[in-house]
Amino acid sequence: MEKYLKIISDGLYRYVDGRLFIENVAAEKICKKFGTPLYIYSSTHIRNQITRIKNAFADINSLICYSMKANSNLHILRYVKKQDCGVDIVSCGELSKALKAGFSAKRMVFAGAGKTEEEIDFSIKKGIFLFTVESIEELKAINAISRRLKKITDISLRINLDVDVDTHHYIKTSRKETKFGIPLKDAKSILASRQDFKYVKIKGTQFHLGSNIKDSSPYIEALNKLNGLLKEIDFNPSIIDIGGGFGIQYKDEEIEPIEDFGKKISKFFMKNFPGALMIFEPGRFIVGNAGILLTRVIYRKHADGKDFLIVDAGMNDLIRPSLYGSYHEIIPVVKKSGKKVICDVVGPICETGDFLGKERFLSDNISSGDLLAVMGAGAYGFSMSSNYNGRPRAAEVLISGNKMICCREREKVEDLWRYET
Ligand SMILES: Cc1ncc(COP(=O)(O)O)c(C=O)c1O
Repeated sequence: MEKYLKIISDGLYRYVDGRLFIENVAAEKICKKFGTPLYIYSSTHIRNQITRIKNAFADINSLICYSMKANSNLHILRYVKKQDCGVDIVSCGELSKALKAGFSAKRMVFAGAGKTEEEIDFSIKKGIFLFTVESIEELKAINAISRRLKKITDISLRINLDVDVDTHHYIKTSRKETKFGIPLKDAKSILASRQDFKYVKIKGTQFHLGSNIKDSSPYIEALNKLNGLLKEIDFNPSIIDIGGGFGIQYKDEEIEPIEDFGKKISKFFMKNFPGALMIFEPGRFIVGNAGILLTRVIYRKHADGKDFLIVDAGMNDLIRPSLYGSYHEIIPVVKKSGKKVICDVVGPICETGDFLGKERFLSDNISSGDLLAVMGAGAYGFSMSSNYNGRPRAAEVLISGNKMICCREREKVEDLWRYET
């Protein structure tokens, strides 16, 4: 367990005398103050991950646009902004929240296959840096709205390069059968006729291959395909956006270190796109292992030869296991002696799919009232949570050294019907 904690957090999570610490604060103490279920985040881990990306790509001109869909808590956004990052957004809601967090619209890239007229209009008026355009229909819409607003709008074309990646099929986004991006041959004809779009300037290209990708090979494959296309039509973009998707360790899987990844991509980039700005849109890599979901055991139930730990966090708090069959390490907040036995860690929700972990080896001494930590919950955790089964959403706490900052209060029961008439 200690080895796993060291790998994912370089010592920011550790056991001290059998008690789990996050930075310099005991997890038990945080739960005592804020209750459970509770999301906690290590701010130092977030900063370290951003520094690792910057160092890995230090040889090229680049901009990190944090993909805020992974975790859009305002405190986290402000913290990421302080590390000199831009932001990747997918809606006007995200745009407004990023502005509130202090990001300049000049450092925002706006992706998404279904931008509405209102969203395009609003974003142009706010002075967005780049739209990532996903279809010819969207390009025409942006051109028409820009003409009405008497503005030239900068965009990049999201190209679907039909590259497969080794990840869950729900989070593969660059196969030709997905809804994302413009097919290669259509991109070719759009780029060839780019002069026809008088109110749009195609400054760059973008691809986003998927999420939780374990090594650089699909990125190199995509860059090679892209390079071929650009050479063929003699188009020299000033921006190349390689999307997000950098993987993290949830268990003991082999992930190419970002330092090696950066070297390989930078080498390709310097050779083939000298002078261009590279944009990345990492989400999971920055916040995934910065977050933990803390939960308390309600019952230990023994049924038909099987043990269940029924905990107070459910699929409404963390949907990844139910949605993608994702693995999250589950560890005790206070180490227990006793025999390790197989148990399912499940939530209180009325769905068979409501589980956080199946067939885990955990001490047979863990019982009602004990605390568990669900690791790797910082990305697509709280941001995908809901009120399903009438459950107010969890609180969020940011840890920085020995400081605890409540960055989102626990929802109240009254919040469940706040917008209902
Ligand atoms: C366009 C785009 N960019 C970036 C990301 C972030 O991906 P990740 O969190 O895997 O880095 C996503 C995730 O879905 C995305 O759709």
